[in-house]
Amino acid sequence: MNISLIGLGKMGQAIADCLLDSNCKITIYNRTIDKILPFKIKGAKVASSILEAVNNADIIISCLFDDKSVLDVAEQMIKCMKTNAVHVGITTVSEICADKLEKMHNDNNTMYISATVSGTPAVLRQKKATTFLAGDKSKCDIVKTIVKFYSGKVIYVSRKPSHSNMAKIIVNYLLVSSMSIFADTYTLCEKKGFDMETMQEILHLMFPNHVMGIYIDKMKNKDFKNINFPMKTAMKDVVYAKELFESSNMYSSINQHVYTEMIEALNTGLENKDWSYLYQMKINKSMK
Ligand SMILES: NC(=O)c1ccc[n+]([C@@H]2O[C@H](COP(=O)([O-])OP(=O)(O)OC[C@H]3O[C@@H](n4cnc5c(N)ncnc54)[C@H](OP(=O)(O)O)[C@@H]3O)[C@@H](O)[C@H]2O)c1
Repeated sequence: MNISLIGLGKMGQAIADCLLDSNCKITIYNRTIDKILPFKIKGAKVASSILEAVNNADIIISCLFDDKSVLDVAEQMIKCMKTNAVHVGITTVSEICADKLEKMHNDNNTMYISATVSGTPAVLRQKKATTFLAGDKSKCDIVKTIVKFYSGKVIYVSRKPSHSNMAKIIVNYLLVSSMSIFADTYTLCEKKGFDMETMQEILHLMFPNHVMGIYIDKMKNKDFKNINFPMKTAMKDVVYAKELFESSNMYSSINQHVYTEMIEALNTGLENKDWSYLYQMKINKSMK
């Protein structure tokens, strides 16, 4: 089985490491060439174009940024994919984008499987990520053997690929809403002189999920230098959640609240700060 990986950002690099560590033979492609070299040294085959990455592949994993980047790349891919080859989308894209990708591939006699992932790059490297698989069940069973190299848990969501995206968007809605609450809580502790470690312990008790735990600790330690998920990436997912609710004639006041906080972050040049920096923003505001 020939596997290609397109996109070597923070998540793509973690996936490449896990696949190579598991002795998978992979072909890699990234728009910016300088990210390729470490993986070439580790044994990956390098493709110099999307066409070269795709034309002999049975499975093409794309790990890009947003709707636009995935649709741009998919339009190029589709012209050179083998019949019955499978495009596995890891990128968190909107529900509408996933539906478009499914149709594009169906019309082309190729297949789209959505395999969105919950977990930071470090969590992937520990093989503890959660993958939400959706699409044709028999193809998902094959894809599962690959995503297992970085996922401790694989949940088969549905035959409809966009349901994987819905699952992931909801996970991030829960995460970002909780992070806004953690930021309020820690800021309150600082103002009231409440012991921060005790509050950290209470938050762990109330939110026992592994990824929540990472951010409970990151905020408590004000570890804003290590960037898992920049504000600009978080904003993308907040907008996708907004669209998801609006498409069902719904309005989430919690999502709207976080959206306003993110707008403030982006308007003040914080787009490349980790999303946990919401805490520092709240402290700064409370000092005024
Ligand atoms: N980071 C996390 O903790 C995390 C966790 C779960 C899910 N995710 C999701 O996983 C996806 C990737 O996240 P990431 O953190 O790896 O992002 P990232 O570090 O910003 O990497 C983005 C990748 O997309 C490529 N790209 C962007 N626009 C492109 C375009 N127009 N054409 C071709 N390539 C393009 C970039 O190429 P260049 O190198 O050339 O810029 C890079 O390889 C996102 O959808 C994110 O929401 C991230």
